[in-house]
Amino acid sequence: MKLQFFVYVCALLCIMHCVAYKPVVLIHGVMAAKGSLMLLANRIKQAHPGTEIYVSDRFNGWSSLVSMWHQVKAFGSDMMNVSASHPNGIHLIGFSQGGLIARGILESFPGHNVKTFISLSSPQAGQYGTKFLHLFFPNLWKKTAYELFYSEVGQYTSVANYWNDPYHQSLYYRYSAFLPQLNNEIITSQSESQLASFTSLERLVLIGGPDDGVITPWQSSHFGYYNLSDEVVEMRNRDIYTKDLFGLKALDKFGKITTIVCNGVQHFDWHLNLTVIDNHVIPYLD
Ligand SMILES: *[C@@H]1O[C@H](CO)[C@@H](O)[C@H](O)[C@H]1NC(C)=O
Ligand SMILES: *[C@@H]1O[C@H](CO)[C@@H](O)[C@H](O)[C@H]1NC(C)=O
Ligand SMILES: *[C@@H]1O[C@H](CO)[C@@H](O)[C@H](O)[C@H]1NC(C)=O
Repeated sequence: MKLQFFVYVCALLCIMHCVAYKPVVLIHGVMAAKGSLMLLANRIKQAHPGTEIYVSDRFNGWSSLVSMWHQVKAFGSDMMNVSASHPNGIHLIGFSQGGLIARGILESFPGHNVKTFISLSSPQAGQYGTKFLHLFFPNLWKKTAYELFYSEVGQYTSVANYWNDPYHQSLYYRYSAFLPQLNNEIITSQSESQLASFTSLERLVLIGGPDDGVITPWQSSHFGYYNLSDEVVEMRNRDIYTKDLFGLKALDKFGKITTIVCNGVQHFDWHLNLTVIDNHVIPYLD
């Protein structure tokens, strides 16, 4: 009798364990705060009851402009704490700048156990647009922003860390303290580990669209970027992919990259749009 009961409890625990949804860590965008992600968090919980959602309360408002590596370290240590108590793995979602911070975490915390990473309209390939600049720096224009951003002082701000001026690439490589390192376009002692750590993902979901209005070019959300003719070259034709600098090609080869284009979504609506959340976010969080 006792044994039967024991077997029964074990079976029940196993079932609960096996069907449980993995916890989800969310990282907010620039100038935003934890609260901005509550609608997304609640929608996930409704669709997947019992999901634990973690939203770190760091770098709200103007403090979201501090340097990217600084934010990667802090958000990353919060995420690793969640990882540590969920050995079966977790999922990670970053919105806008938060998606680039998330990639920084995935590359620089080799012990992570993130299964699915959803990048929600994030400038993964960088940013080169005046409209975006004017959200924080009303006096800067895209053609001259490099003069400020590509300097040691300029690099104290997150936006400068992923400012990618196609016409000043040698300054970008020389001064940018974040994106070229993250992309392994500049080889450092971390490069190999970054590649291995990013490639351990099981699924990479890249979401973006032409009506975004802030991410410029919008294809940066899919790792596409400008070349010197002002045309956008898609991910698979860029050096970061063809040379597989940090693992995109490896992930793609195993069918682990999903690229989603949504029309009719403006930048500050992605994380609030229920159609996007229901169709393109929740289905990947099993
Ligand atoms: C780390 O996780 C534990 C248990 O999940 C929690 O009690 C603790 O507050 C977390 N610490 C930080 C700094 O987030
Ligand atoms: C930029 O990309 C376009 C489209 O792929 C191509 O036709 C053009 O030659 C490229 N320009 C340069 C300077 O590489
Ligand atoms: C929400 O997303 C759908 C699908 O991309 C789009 O058609 C619609 O215009 C969006 N609505 C808002 C308010 O952003």
